[in-house]
Amino acid sequence: MIVLALETSCDETAAAILCDERGLLASEVASQIAIHQAYGGVVPEVASRQHLTQLRPVVQAALSHAGLRMEEIDAVAATAGPGLATSLMIGLSAAKGLALGLKKPFLAINHIEGHLLSPFFPSPCLIPATGLVVSGGHTLLVDVEGFGSYRLLGQTRDDAAGEAFDKVGKLLGLPYPGGPVIDKLARTGNPQRFDFPRSMLDTGDFAFSFSGLKTAVRYLIPKLPDRSDTTLADVCASFQEAVVDVLVAKTLAAVRATGRKTVAMSGGVSCNSRLRAKMSQACEAAGIPLLVADAALCTDNAAMIGFVALHHLRQNTYSPLTSDIDPNLRLV
Ligand code: KG4
Ligand code: ZN
Repeated sequence: MIVLALETSCDETAAAILCDERGLLASEVASQIAIHQAYGGVVPEVASRQHLTQLRPVVQAALSHAGLRMEEIDAVAATAGPGLATSLMIGLSAAKGLALGLKKPFLAINHIEGHLLSPFFPSPCLIPATGLVVSGGHTLLVDVEGFGSYRLLGQTRDDAAGEAFDKVGKLLGLPYPGGPVIDKLARTGNPQRFDFPRSMLDTGDFAFSFSGLKTAVRYLIPKLPDRSDTTLADVCASFQEAVVDVLVAKTLAAVRATGRKTVAMSGGVSCNSRLRAKMSQACEAAGIPLLVADAALCTDNAAMIGFVALHHLRQNTYSPLTSDIDPNLRLV
């Protein structure tokens, strides 16, 4: 069984080809970051037009890397949501058209489920685990019982963790997206220099809030003693530490509450070096294995969409060609 998966939920045009026996055969991602950088964030209209021009070459590159012809594809999948409506509709419409033309099954896939299951790739069996999804659009803790069986433990009440990184990056005058830049600058900074709030750390639930932290950085900036590289690195490190502390503490609390024996961390922010280090230290101390996807599978990609599609195909579940995008699609 060979599946072609498309992902166009935001500003990455991606196509991947997966085989249930041979694993990942190709994963192509055309990033639009350089285009949106000029605006300091994603412009939906621009993203949509880029998907239109990028999708065909990205699919062709995936086919050629996999050494396959379109006729050899057995099913076509695409992200149906959540995401930007004008971006989602490009990938979903293309996938429906391809499935119809090839007379092959079509699958509409949930983007959050793609992230959530990416740490388990390429195993066809999912271990029960506590899932932490931390991306630009989402921050949620999920009890993963098995494929399709998820219980939402808690999520952010305002900004997603990645959104906080990007907004703080913008406040500090750093290029978009702020996450990877802050990660890099923070490596030489002092995480103890500025005492930022650890919001909702002691609420005893699994909800998050990052907008107060972003505001705290905003109020600090005019009061900084200088604008040196050292101070900038210290602000980045202190901000990052506050985000990481909350994510690690709540994840470990979720593991204890659910009795799960594994943590599966995913989404763009799971590329963060400090989060990876502190989460693995905490998991090791608790005797709990930590699963994190390869960096290439953490940020938006189509391989994670194809991985979910393969699970559906194994169960013979397909989507009707009448299924539509849902920008607010929920996981559960
Ligand atoms: O998963 P993703 O590509 O898209 C969404 O589904 O949102 O995540 C993108 C987010 C951005 O906010 C970006 O700043 C953040 O992931 N990100 C990072 C790092 N790499 C990407 N945040 C912190 N540290 C990083 N190294
Ligand atoms: Zn994503």
